[in-house]
Amino acid sequence: MASLAPSKPHRLYIGLMSGTSLDGIDGVLFDAASLAVTGHVHAPFAPALRDELLALNAPGDNELHRAALAANAVARGYADVVSQLLEATGTRRSQITAIGAHGQTVRHRPDGLDGYTTQLLNGALLAEQAGIDVVCDLRSRDVAAGGQGAPLVPAFHRAIFGTSDTDVAVLNLGGIANLSLLFADGRTGGFDTGPANCLMDGWTAVHLGEAFDADGTWAATGHVLPELLAVLQAEPFFALPPPKSTGRDLFHLDWLQARLTPGQRPQDVQATLLELSARSIADSLKHQMPQARTLIACGGGARNGRLMQRLSELLPGVEVESSATRNLPVDQVEAAAFAWLAHRFVERQPGNLPAVTGAAGPRLLGALYPA
Ligand SMILES: Nc1ncnc2c1ncn2[C@@H]1O[C@H](COP(=O)(O)OP(=O)(O)O)[C@@H](O)[C@H]1O
Ligand SMILES: [Mg+2]
Repeated sequence: MASLAPSKPHRLYIGLMSGTSLDGIDGVLFDAASLAVTGHVHAPFAPALRDELLALNAPGDNELHRAALAANAVARGYADVVSQLLEATGTRRSQITAIGAHGQTVRHRPDGLDGYTTQLLNGALLAEQAGIDVVCDLRSRDVAAGGQGAPLVPAFHRAIFGTSDTDVAVLNLGGIANLSLLFADGRTGGFDTGPANCLMDGWTAVHLGEAFDADGTWAATGHVLPELLAVLQAEPFFALPPPKSTGRDLFHLDWLQARLTPGQRPQDVQATLLELSARSIADSLKHQMPQARTLIACGGGARNGRLMQRLSELLPGVEVESSATRNLPVDQVEAAAFAWLAHRFVERQPGNLPAVTGAAGPRLLGALYPA
């Protein structure tokens, strides 16, 4: 690649992730040779940017202009995280081969001939401000090849958590939950199971004015409403076979409100939303990898003790453990995956797994904005 100095070791990358939870940006410094994370920074979104990104998930007025401004703001936020990361780790910009930057998903509609997925990020501005090669728009090529463009993390999960000794499942609990199935024989599966935190977060914001239900303590004060749970579980997405992916296009607060009936206590609804997340994940795992004995959880939802407890209860015989027990803290896994995907791009290696996304074949993922 023209922009890479021949002397560069092709080893150090920065991964930048901001997921559907809209909690902010996770950035990691990643060594592609050892697959180790050597630095991590989390920067919350400013409330106004968070509100605007959330609003842009639904059709609205003057979208093109607002989306362009939001893409600029996301790029500045990402550039800021890059600076913090370099400073915290004593790393020079010239030592970084490339940044793998996810951007902020505001639409995910990958199905059909007109499928697309939109992650807001001004890659040119990020390259300009960071002074490092930027690889972004990592999902579109898979969608162009007929795939879901998601999940993209299973290949990375395979690289760091996969083993030929036993089948292992990896669960990312972001706004949406996705499972990676790492079969001992080398096959890798993966798909989105539905909401992890996005509905619980939205409901908590409405009723407690807080960003999330810390440790699931509010949910634990409520009782699961069986009728509501059945209504929520009737959403056809849950019964679809993989490959499948989803987002806020489907699972948003209006989706929930339309299924509520008068008199339901907020804490009971919260308990039911937690149960919906836990059951959709447990049912998917039982269906797709019934023999699994190990489930490695990552993402912010792995800090929700109540959710982790319900997963353990619904999956007897399965050890549900945090990725932190495998030397990768829960907030670093996704960002590391996007650093790894940038490395794949630089090495001219495919980043997708057609068996996971449904794409017509392996594809080089991403677009390059040279420093
Ligand atoms: N202590 C906690 N208790 C419960 N939930 C938590 C906790 N910490 C983080 N979370 C959840 O994790 C989410 C952030 O997870 P993250 O992996 O960053 O998701 P995303 O990739 O969608 O941004 C928060 O929105 C919140 O729902
Ligand atoms: Mg996040």
